Amino acid sequence: MSTTPAFDIVFFGGTGDLALRKLIPSLYHAHKAGALHQDGRIFALGRKDIGRDGYLALLSERVKPRLGVDFDEDVWAGFASRLHFQTLDAGRADDYAALAQALGVSPERVTVCYLATAPHLFTTICQQLAVVGINHPNVRVVLEKPLGHDLESSNAINAAVGKCFAENQIYRIDHYLGKESVQNLMAIRFGNTLFEPLWRREWIDNVQITIAEELGVEERGEFYDRTGALRDMLQSHLLQLLCMVAMEPPPSLSEDVVRDEKLKVLKSLKPFTPEDVLAKTVRGQYRSGAINGMPVAAYRDEHKVAPDSNTETFVALQAEVGNWRWAGVPFFLRTGKRMQERVAEIVINFRKVPHSVFPMPIGLHSANRLVIRLQPKESVRLYFLAKEPGDAMSLQSTYLNLDFHTMFKARWADAYERLLLDVIRGRLALFMRCDEQAQAWSWVEPIIDCWNRHAIAPKLYTAGSWGPAASSGLLSRAGVVWHEET
Ligand code: BG6
Repeated sequence: MSTTPAFDIVFFGGTGDLALRKLIPSLYHAHKAGALHQDGRIFALGRKDIGRDGYLALLSERVKPRLGVDFDEDVWAGFASRLHFQTLDAGRADDYAALAQALGVSPERVTVCYLATAPHLFTTICQQLAVVGINHPNVRVVLEKPLGHDLESSNAINAAVGKCFAENQIYRIDHYLGKESVQNLMAIRFGNTLFEPLWRREWIDNVQITIAEELGVEERGEFYDRTGALRDMLQSHLLQLLCMVAMEPPPSLSEDVVRDEKLKVLKSLKPFTPEDVLAKTVRGQYRSGAINGMPVAAYRDEHKVAPDSNTETFVALQAEVGNWRWAGVPFFLRTGKRMQERVAEIVINFRKVPHSVFPMPIGLHSANRLVIRLQPKESVRLYFLAKEPGDAMSLQSTYLNLDFHTMFKARWADAYERLLLDVIRGRLALFMRCDEQAQAWSWVEPIIDCWNRHAIAPKLYTAGSWGPAASSGLLSRAGVVWHEET
């Protein structure tokens, strides 16, 4: 693996959940794999003055146990020598001056400012960085999702950040784009001749995209109750996956070419009328239930969630991409917390054969199906019918299985690691451009408005199930069912 250029990376929210769960572990893995330049420094920022020793103690407690078998005392010691801690209150100008001094701002040096904070702080932080000169062309600013709460607030943040940084310095992260299988979807589609001729309305019956989590809202009740599944997951991760499925083959993989194609998909999504919202969206919220045999509380009983909350923890909807390739093909999207299983997958259901000379297996909705699994284990399965051995000409559904873990022995970077390395290397292709994000907000906003206007309360579903029954109803009206692994 080639190493990055020399760099400084600064984590705003360095003591927060994201930094401790994802960012620091990802950099540790990159360091262990030899992907980081020797001259690469990591600055964690926090409001409380815990000092470098205090920060290292925090990492020992919170990060080391997460590293499991990858933890190595010597490697950790080398990694820790990159780490610095700096006290910073986002609103205090003096703290930025101190940061600039600690960094020793140099226009040649790649400097990444990762804003792992609440979005309402993005504007202030960027303005203050500009005041102290941490916005020269080699500075890259990473903005965590959700960027704002709606189109207006997202536009306001983008406009304010845009006054301090050029668009090519802004990395809007959607970690789903860094997942190995999502990268592989590009490879499957555009590296092979096999699928492209079939990748259209004539041969595809429907597309299903699921991100189901077993987790509830954990410690994020306050944030989540203001946000909900539509803003937290659908507006970003699910729409980005939809773009990867539906986009036209890009002429190259250069950043703006890929992002232009994704934008075209977002622009082609048919807008929801109020009638569509009522007929084609399902809003759910978990009640108490059990996950893996363990009882779990209802959403409304979670810490820092309003006891009468109407925030959705589940959303399913039927979308359509209105262009020549996809007209009439339903795209079913769903995501939920406290679902039966942790699974993220993209399912392409091909059409039935025009005339069958064989008796079809009972309950089979589609003989040919491509299933791209993102989680829990990456794989690609191509389902088809084959004859069961024996005298009778009876067919059975079976699949070709590309299990990445069996097929490829080399270690691969997880989503955050890959994306952090991309930022340091200055690769923007896997990050959202401002116009993509605005377009995604414009598409989901009528749904939120309609839910609010008609006071559509979420349908309750039992924790540990697959969501409200209405989610299956949505598909059965189109004569399909959600894919289940066989
Ligand atoms: C985040 C959401 O973007 O993605 C979380 O804010 C969610 O609510 C998480 O749990 C899921 O990511 P992953 O990679 O664990 O599926």
